[in-house]
Amino acid sequence: MTNRSNYLACGALLALLAAPAPAQEMDMKHEMAASPVPAAAKDLRTVIVLTAAERAVVLQEMRDMLGGTQAVVAGLANDDMKAVASGARPQGMHVMHGVPASLRARLPMGFKQMGMAMHTDFDQIALDAESLGDPRHTLKQMDALLQKCVACHSTYRIDPAVK
Ligand code: HEC
Repeated sequence: MTNRSNYLACGALLALLAAPAPAQEMDMKHEMAASPVPAAAKDLRTVIVLTAAERAVVLQEMRDMLGGTQAVVAGLANDDMKAVASGARPQGMHVMHGVPASLRARLPMGFKQMGMAMHTDFDQIALDAESLGDPRHTLKQMDALLQKCVACHSTYRIDPAVK
């Protein structure tokens, strides 16, 4: 007899002994426990362990990056290159100087390099938007910038340290 039919038999027996019958519920639980995690769902990203407070700092910075990205796109959509520059500039290199040394020390070199490249891109986007005022050029820069977001997100994840 298979596990499944064992369960069904067990459930049927219980149904005879006690009402209401829990047979169906038990069978569903059994199915869920037995279903394997599909290989595609495996998370192969490198884990960076930070304290809850450090993780919050990084994630806040990330949300700021998304806000900067949105502001640049809005500027492009409105033919407003001044808005592109003022949207990009707050996400430039100076952000990295505000990262505490203790947190910086915990971040892998690859993470820091990609982070630096991203902030440099934001600075360049701001500079070029002002000096060139060419939306097509900015769009190309945004493509290169977003590739960095994508590359880092597929490489790392951040877990809070378990105390
Ligand atoms: C240097 C690496 C790196 C770069 C570059 C990067 N990110 Fe992230 N980002 C991360 C990591 C790591 C997380 C946490 C993911 C996790 O733990 O699952 C994250 C999380 C986020 C989150 C979720 C924040 C939250 O509150 O949970 C947003 C939004 C985000 N990033 C936006 C961006 C955008 C937009 C860009 C590019 C402009 C970008 N990131 C570039 C590494 C990076």
